[in-house]
Amino acid sequence: MLEKIVVIGSNGQIGTELVSELRKVYGDGNVIACDIRRPDYDIRNSGPFEFVNVLEKDILRQLFQKYKPTQVYLLAALLSATGEQNPKLAWDLNMNGLLNVLDLGHEYKTSRIYWPSSIAVFGPNSPKDQTPQYCIMDPNTVYGISKLAGERWCEYYFHRYGLDIRSIRYPGLISWKAAPGGGTTDYAIHIFHDALKKSNYKCFLSAQTELPMMYMDDAIRGTIELMDAPAEKIKIRLSYNFTGMSFTPESLANEIKKHIPDFRLEFTEYDQRQAIADSWPRSINDSNASSDWGWKPEFDLSKMTEYMLKNLRK
Ligand code: SER
Repeated sequence: MLEKIVVIGSNGQIGTELVSELRKVYGDGNVIACDIRRPDYDIRNSGPFEFVNVLEKDILRQLFQKYKPTQVYLLAALLSATGEQNPKLAWDLNMNGLLNVLDLGHEYKTSRIYWPSSIAVFGPNSPKDQTPQYCIMDPNTVYGISKLAGERWCEYYFHRYGLDIRSIRYPGLISWKAAPGGGTTDYAIHIFHDALKKSNYKCFLSAQTELPMMYMDDAIRGTIELMDAPAEKIKIRLSYNFTGMSFTPESLANEIKKHIPDFRLEFTEYDQRQAIADSWPRSINDSNASSDWGWKPEFDLSKMTEYMLKNLRK
């Protein structure tokens, strides 16, 4: 079947890389990049682009009407740290954006919809180590609350309308192509830029704050593998636990020192992102993703560090 794929939020950290990968697989003209802001040169020139605000349902409907997409990826969202600065906007965008896409996916019989969730769905009373797929979930950020509610809506639309929605709970995503979007895990990207620029980095999380992370190449591959899997293999219609590695600022700094020996890790005054990080898992058990659709990460801490430094140096 010829695929027509709409990616909403194409200018973000994930969208930028996902659009170029999908265009390689499905052809430039079949992947429509959509965002509220003008995209960078690459996305605009390699294929179709549409200005879309996911909260404007009539404009969104025109997009579905024009392209009749077979797949929709909804990536537009406010992340954990920016969400706390504007809780009502985060709720509105993350929740009503999703409901608009689910409604139109149902109306236009979209074959597959992708929507990302996050480790932020877990909270202070969730198990911290090897956090399982199913456990107590008591998120205390507006981002986490919207993702947990969104997962429930995805499962609801699947059971009620048969809409094929697939989702992954991303850990912190580490990439060099596009800037991260205001998350608590963003330190793990800034650290590389500063290491190369000035051999030191002032971290807003404490040395021993361990969080689940993943290199973007793994995240993009995993996302497309999930979307390509036969529907009967997708047994979880909430969102899959998903991880690549776990590390602390200190262990990441030690890894960077293997390449930049005089690199020094310093710390800022207390930052409210510390409280967010402290409420999240240290590591994730993603065995359902492995057994249901064969997920296996390729990047560990040392390979990720090597690739980040190599690519940022270029
Ligand atoms: N990287 C995200 C954040 O920190 C987690 O999903 O908000």
